[in-house]
Amino acid sequence: MADLSVEFCGVPFKNPVVIASLETTNSPDLMMQAFDYGASGAIIKTLTDIDDMAVLTMNSKYAIMNDRGDIIKGKVPRDFKFYSRSGYSSTYYKEWIPYLKELGEYARERDAHLIGSAGAKDIEGWKDICRTIEDCGLPMVELNFGCPHPALMPGVHGGSMIGQDPEVAFNVTQAVCEAVDIPVIIKLTPDQSKPVEIARAAQEAGAAAVTATNRYTGFAVDIDTAQPRLGGTAGIGGTWTKPLSLRYVHNIYKQVGIPIAGSNGVFDHRDIVEFIMTGADVVEVGSVLMIKGMKWLPNIIRGLDRFMDEHGYDDIKSMYGIASDAAATDYSDQFAKDRIHANVNAETCQNPTCNVCIQMCFYEALSQDPAGKINVHTDKCIGCELCLDVCPFDSISMAPTSDGQYEEGYFKIQHEIYEPAEVKFATNRNNNDTIEANSPKMAAE
Ligand SMILES: Cc1cc2nc3c(=O)[nH]c(=O)nc-3n(C[C@H](O)[C@H](O)[C@H](O)COP(=O)(O)O)c2cc1C
Ligand code: SF4
Ligand code: SF4
Repeated sequence: MADLSVEFCGVPFKNPVVIASLETTNSPDLMMQAFDYGASGAIIKTLTDIDDMAVLTMNSKYAIMNDRGDIIKGKVPRDFKFYSRSGYSSTYYKEWIPYLKELGEYARERDAHLIGSAGAKDIEGWKDICRTIEDCGLPMVELNFGCPHPALMPGVHGGSMIGQDPEVAFNVTQAVCEAVDIPVIIKLTPDQSKPVEIARAAQEAGAAAVTATNRYTGFAVDIDTAQPRLGGTAGIGGTWTKPLSLRYVHNIYKQVGIPIAGSNGVFDHRDIVEFIMTGADVVEVGSVLMIKGMKWLPNIIRGLDRFMDEHGYDDIKSMYGIASDAAATDYSDQFAKDRIHANVNAETCQNPTCNVCIQMCFYEALSQDPAGKINVHTDKCIGCELCLDVCPFDSISMAPTSDGQYEEGYFKIQHEIYEPAEVKFATNRNNNDTIEANSPKMAAE
């Protein structure tokens, strides 16, 4: 059994799985369930002094959509889109005080942590909510600079509006860091172009970590009624956002070096692994638990443990940041790589039943000969590896292009832009005329 423990902001966590701040943490009962099911931490739904943000939560609306944008009826698959509008905690922050103390104790008894979250009206409000969280004995607080909804709430300045402005983000972070002794985490918005700058501003202002990220703002249309879903813009997330969240984690990990809580795009343990390999210290799990219930949580934790055993990772540290560390820092490394070309294994290739690679090759480097065998036109194959990926029968491999082959006329990168570029880069993907002309047997079928 692998060691799942991690340290985040100087605090030990028994595993990296933390429940994100959302509807499941707007209720003491559900948070107790999260701790019972093995969460190492749960972040309370953002505590606030903004009445409208609390009332908005009592008017929450949700739509769960499939890859076509239709509402999912029944079991929710991995590629769901969660479109929703809600606000901050529906209960005024001072009313939470006795529950925060009790829940904090409940978490500690289970070797877990209740974590605070704040979203306030003004600097004094930010400080007061965070002091309240600290006074209740919570070990850290997340400042919600990522919520997409305040931007659409008249008279409210908060959430992503702060997270999009390095100066305001710095000022609020600094004021809170001066007001409390517990570690402060800044939850970033993905609705911006400068996450690294905001993360750096947060770090300079005294933040101990950042969360990358909250959700995007989206717009979805029901084409049958020609109406916007949920009446207009709303927050949007789901596993499809994961590569975008990971890009932020990667950039912050490499360029800022501040501890990171990964968020936005988790369905199961595989996503947790991806976040950790990209450089997240802990990973927040949010909407999937609203959809599947808290009972989904042990699957995630068990899955992580199993994955680590199967892949020989003894502890989380051995996975931490390894993919980010292996990533190229710029694209010029591509030029230093040896050239390769596609090889087709005629024994296992299923052509003519299958012709996926021919249809797919953007460079017309594959065709079918009259006997129904795949030809690789090595002068056109640029070694892009797309056919390797798509072949359902693993019948394609990539071979190094030797100097001799290169001289023979295997694909050469031209050095002059006007050299026979029209030949080299004539891409006719899905041009049926050419495919059929090159592959007569296919045309006949
Ligand atoms: C319905 C809903 C309500 C949310 N409320 C909050 C909130 O009050 N505070 C906060 O910091 N994030 C809030 N979030 C964002 C989540 O904490 C989380 O960052 C986001 O959903 C991405 O993670 P996921 O892909 O695991 O859902 C909310 C998300 C959803 C779907
Ligand atoms: S995709 Fe694979 S099996 Fe299908 S034609 Fe190409 S090489 Fe053959
Ligand atoms: S490697 Fe790329 S260019 Fe070469 S045959 Fe495969 S898909 Fe075509």
